[in-house]
Amino acid sequence: IRPSVYVARLLTDNVQRELEAREDVTVDVGQEAPPSRSELLARVAGKDAAIVTLTERIDEEFFQAAGPGLTVVANVAVGFDNIDRQAAEHHGVIVTNTPGVLDGATADHTFALILAVTRRIVEGDRFLHSDQPWIWGPRMLVGLDVSAGAVLGIVGLGRIGRAVAARAAAFGMRVIAADSTLSVGQVVDGVEVVSLEDLLASSDVVTLHVPLLPSTRHLINRRTLAQMRPGSYLINCARGGVVDEEALIEAIDSGHLRGAGIDTFDGEPRVNPELLARPAIVCTPHTASAGEATRDRMGRLAVDNVLAVLNGRPALTPVPAV
Ligand code: GLV
Ligand code: GLV
Repeated sequence: IRPSVYVARLLTDNVQRELEAREDVTVDVGQEAPPSRSELLARVAGKDAAIVTLTERIDEEFFQAAGPGLTVVANVAVGFDNIDRQAAEHHGVIVTNTPGVLDGATADHTFALILAVTRRIVEGDRFLHSDQPWIWGPRMLVGLDVSAGAVLGIVGLGRIGRAVAARAAAFGMRVIAADSTLSVGQVVDGVEVVSLEDLLASSDVVTLHVPLLPSTRHLINRRTLAQMRPGSYLINCARGGVVDEEALIEAIDSGHLRGAGIDTFDGEPRVNPELLARPAIVCTPHTASAGEATRDRMGRLAVDNVLAVLNGRPALTPVPAV
């Protein structure tokens, strides 16, 4: 009999069409909205594979609900902090993610936020939508010139961090990086690796591209924010949990930071209203990978990972072991 695949949420039209046309698997597809917890557990029962997103918590209870037939869980995301890798290993389930295919889109979005906060794009848009009279002024809505040799500090020089570095170089920024997996002094793709402390002290804009791990939870906190340059900016297109949001709000309110661009939030989909209440903070709803072609590639890679494992081949992009 054909292996069964549970797809927790509707993927793009292209990916759904391709998957549903296959004759070697049966698919049980959810809705566009996330399944409730009880629906998730009920529908994965007895399945051979599951394609899930970062809105699904994949843990011991999930694996028990699935039963012994489940061999692979493909996360349609590069991040995998929604998945208990130890529980997966315990149940002999292979976990895959979607590295590589979203680097360009995520780096583009990161740059959109860098420019939005430094050049005050959203403030300007809101201003024009208000009823206030205006006229061009030499002091109006001025912000940081990124192209005048401003320093970009990239925390986490993986695939996405390097894609951000390439864009920053084209903008004439000086780029440095901190990465706990690289040694200080190393140069990667023309980017010098420095300590996190040096990066925070030297950067006009700090952008985060680390996974959320116990070691990166609240990496940006009161202490590390205080180490940032006065008048600098923070960008987070990684995971909300990497930043202590209360501390960030304090740093904005005190004027220590001039602005922040935030795509991911601690405890999504809840967004701390204090973040939204500050004009110097530009927020987007976790859309950094939301390019059309990118979302097709993410879905296809998840499907290809599932098909590989179901056919007895190695997964294409398994997540690293715990
Ligand atoms: C999105 O946040 C992802 O991890 O791909
Ligand atoms: C920087 O990436 C750090 O983890 O310290």
